[in-house]
Amino acid sequence: MAETINLKLKIWRQKNSKSQGKFEMYDMPGVSTHMSFLEMMDVLNDRLIREGKDPVAFDHDCREGICGMCSMYINGRAHGPMKATTTCQLHMRHFENGETITIEPWRAASFPVIKDLTVDRTAFDKIIQAGGFISVNTGSAQDGNAIPIAKVKSDEAFDAAACIGCGACVAACKNASAMLFMSAKVSQLALLPQGHPERNDRVLKMVQTHDDAGFGNCTNTGACEAECPKEISISHIARLNREYLMAFLTKEA
Ligand code: SF4
Ligand code: FES
Repeated sequence: MAETINLKLKIWRQKNSKSQGKFEMYDMPGVSTHMSFLEMMDVLNDRLIREGKDPVAFDHDCREGICGMCSMYINGRAHGPMKATTTCQLHMRHFENGETITIEPWRAASFPVIKDLTVDRTAFDKIIQAGGFISVNTGSAQDGNAIPIAKVKSDEAFDAAACIGCGACVAACKNASAMLFMSAKVSQLALLPQGHPERNDRVLKMVQTHDDAGFGNCTNTGACEAECPKEISISHIARLNREYLMAFLTKEA
């Protein structure tokens, strides 16, 4: 494979959520195939700054697939073309010489654009604030076997806990539903005994907050699971629905 490739970038530029955005084209000659996608964006921004132009705003933090900040829609796919890969883990060797790459922000009414490719994901924080926590006093670190938990349960809880809150599930969903994200958080806590005291209250409050934030409902298209960089299973949405039904039917009037 060639060490460098020449690309054109078609990037969504938007001053803020009130202004109308538009695509702008940028030539990117001599891009190293060893670069990550974000490093390629850094090179573009270095150039724009040297030319006295406004750099492209985009979110990032860890650059190793942990924080969930690097939200970009790349060639019509959340986090780009590679399965189970965040934008920061995507490398330029997966693109062709001469290719035009289209880069857009997450598009969902509940994630308003702050600038260019950066969106406001406060709605996710509100869902977590509504119930994504436990209030039992767990004390200091204790022996891992003090509370026996079946391996199958701890594995499932661990899989759910892998959600990094990136929002790709919302961006990929035609209903802009955040149910995969929310179901991962509900599952993680519902599967473990420490999460049980607030179990019913949690799911009712989180679903209410999800709906109030304007996220849509799940219609089982599976786009969220396909695009999730952490491969969170939609079986967690089934658990969320069961948790919600049980909590709703047993809640005190
Ligand atoms: S469920 Fe997947 S796509 Fe959705 S926020 Fe979590 S990690 Fe991101
Ligand atoms: S920058 Fe943290 S997951 Fe990509």
